[in-house]
Amino acid sequence: MLPLRVVSLLVTTLSIIPQVVGWSTFVVPHNSSADDLAALASEFSVSSGTERDLAVNSTIIFKKGTTYNFFSAIRFPVLTNVEIKVEGNMSYLDDIPALQAVVAAKGYPGAMMTFTGGTNVTLRGTTDPEWGWIDGHGQAWWDAMEQTNRPHGIWFHNIKRGVIRDMKIFKPVGWNFQTDGSVDVHVFKNTILAKSDTNSFPFNTDGFNAQGANQLFEHNYVVNGDDCVTVTNGSTNITFRDAYCEGSHGLSTTIGSSSNTSFASGENILFENVLMKSGLYGARFKSWTGGPGLTRNVTWRNVRFIDTVFPIYVTQNYFDQETSTRPVIPANPDPNNATHIQDFVFENFSGSIRDVGPQEGSCISDPCWFFVANATGREVVIFDLYPGTAMNITTKNIFAKTESGGEVDVMCNPEDIMNDVGFKCQDGRFIRTTVKF
Ligand SMILES: *[C@@H]1O[C@H](CO)[C@@H](O)[C@H](O)[C@H]1NC(C)=O
Ligand SMILES: *[C@@H]1O[C@H](CO)[C@@H](O)[C@H](O)[C@H]1NC(C)=O
Ligand SMILES: *[C@@H]1O[C@H](CO)[C@@H](O)[C@H](O)[C@H]1NC(C)=O
Ligand SMILES: *[C@@H]1O[C@H](CO)[C@@H](O)[C@H](O)[C@H]1NC(C)=O
Ligand SMILES: *[C@@H]1O[C@H](CO)[C@@H](O)[C@H](O)[C@H]1NC(C)=O
Ligand SMILES: *[C@@H]1O[C@H](CO)[C@@H](O)[C@H](O)[C@H]1NC(C)=O
Ligand SMILES: *[C@@H]1O[C@H](CO)[C@@H](O)[C@H](O)[C@H]1NC(C)=O
Ligand SMILES: *[C@@H]1O[C@H](CO)[C@@H](O)[C@H](O)[C@H]1NC(C)=O
Ligand SMILES: *[C@@H]1O[C@H](CO)[C@@H](O)[C@H](O)[C@H]1NC(C)=O
Ligand SMILES: *[C@@H]1O[C@H](CO)[C@@H](O)[C@H](O)[C@H]1NC(C)=O
Ligand SMILES: *[C@@H]1O[C@H](CO)[C@@H](O)[C@H](O)[C@H]1NC(C)=O
Ligand SMILES: *[C@@H]1O[C@H](CO)[C@@H](O)[C@H](O)[C@H]1NC(C)=O
Repeated sequence: MLPLRVVSLLVTTLSIIPQVVGWSTFVVPHNSSADDLAALASEFSVSSGTERDLAVNSTIIFKKGTTYNFFSAIRFPVLTNVEIKVEGNMSYLDDIPALQAVVAAKGYPGAMMTFTGGTNVTLRGTTDPEWGWIDGHGQAWWDAMEQTNRPHGIWFHNIKRGVIRDMKIFKPVGWNFQTDGSVDVHVFKNTILAKSDTNSFPFNTDGFNAQGANQLFEHNYVVNGDDCVTVTNGSTNITFRDAYCEGSHGLSTTIGSSSNTSFASGENILFENVLMKSGLYGARFKSWTGGPGLTRNVTWRNVRFIDTVFPIYVTQNYFDQETSTRPVIPANPDPNNATHIQDFVFENFSGSIRDVGPQEGSCISDPCWFFVANATGREVVIFDLYPGTAMNITTKNIFAKTESGGEVDVMCNPEDIMNDVGFKCQDGRFIRTTVKF
């Protein structure tokens, strides 16, 4: 079948010198016995500036009614004024070794759909519930605990003025969306369903990995087994709001490094109006002992949590519990040895702490990777701070009970922070104080 291609010519008569502007609409062809993405990729190899140049002023459509063979990873060139519409279904190879070979191959761009830069780029799914799904066939990988050469999903890298909307992901193998290096991005009404039908856990099915500037995430629906969203080093003005997160590892800010070689930073980050259901963490910050940095002005507010293990969790001393032991903080700690945190607010949280029932599913070691020494399992807040590097960290209007109906606790070392944190800073009962902002 020949690619169906429509080049529309639009003649503007308003300007003195008439301009001819070309816009291409390309419907991706489907061949049931071939890889449809390799065919699309070959469309980008024509010389730029020609009418066949899909990288500029074009709409690329995966059409409704077709299930496309998403059998290879695609690396888009730099795009300008391009909209990609996923209106049909797309299916990864369901053979694990075959997909591993795609990821292991030389030239694998880093994710199944890799954007390398550009301006005014839209990736758009559909509101049709039957179509527009990218099916990763992740269940078999989760069941086999297969963690070698797992594909990442959509890497929306270095885009200026980008939109990701109405995309729907079904059982991804691992990580979903990553927006690093992008500026002025709106990510909304996307759905990620990484829910396991068996007892196996959907490891590393991160929802949104945000990095960059001026990014707004809203009305997203995520069921997964890792961070619902995580904001990382070098970010500013990131908002994640009006969302549903189930089974996740939190609304996270992960800024720092385990080595002291480079500074890590982030600021002006807001998470609000989120329902967190049956997750490990609600609001989470983590950085490592050893690396210098600064994270400031981060707010988590209006969070309803149901059946959550750690509703509010801040650690400046993160370490991999499976491969190392907790770093010893010396008597005279070096303030360059931590990512400083300041102006953090946790406001209007309410819900229930899981203190009964099975261990969270990502626990496959003893102790669990998320084990907290001396915790009672009823903590609504855990502040694990690095001495002298945390300033103006506050909580307000926090309401919690445990599922078994008991009182709730906190962990906090008053030697590590000077300000009133909104509760009595101690390892013990949660006793509210009235912090003034
Ligand atoms: C479909 O793909 C097969 C296998 O690559 C190829 O032999 C065949 O020519 C393709 N059909 C069309 C219509 O392109
Ligand atoms: C793309 O469209 C813009 C107008 O939206 C026009 O200025 C530009 O020349 C077009 N570029 C190409 C390569 O057609
Ligand atoms: C941005 O791209 C869209 C198509 O996705 C197009 O309609 C619009 O004109 C572009 N905006 C500019 C400023 O070129
Ligand atoms: C599209 O894919 C989704 C996820 O695999 C599936 O539930 C849906 O039934 C598919 N749609 C059609 C029309 O086959
Ligand atoms: C922050 O990001 C939002 C959403 O992208 C944008 O509307 C707003 O202008 C940005 N604010 C600043 C100060 O850049
Ligand atoms: C953080 O980002 C900055 C700026 O991109 C970079 O120079 C630095 O190396 C990064 N630090 C870490 C720990 O990744
Ligand atoms: C804090 O971040 C928010 C965005 O989340 C921004 O609107 C506000 O101006 C920032 N405040 C300061 C003092 O930087
Ligand atoms: C800095 O952190 C590293 C890594 O944990 C540790 O080995 C080192 O002893 C620390 N040094 C000081 C002075 O805190
Ligand atoms: C507190 O958060 C809840 C959502 O959990 C929201 O419905 C309510 O409006 C918020 N209250 C205020 C005062 O913002
Ligand atoms: C950071 O690393 C340098 C060498 O790379 C070392 O000389 C210095 O003592 C380290 N600083 C801290 C605080 O660990
Ligand atoms: C503490 O942080 C909050 C949130 O960023 C800010 O509004 C407030 O002004 C800060 N207070 C001080 C004393 O810096
Ligand atoms: C746990 O509590 C014991 C006894 O109070 C104490 O010695 C130990 O340092 C605590 N461990 C941590 C990681 O706080």
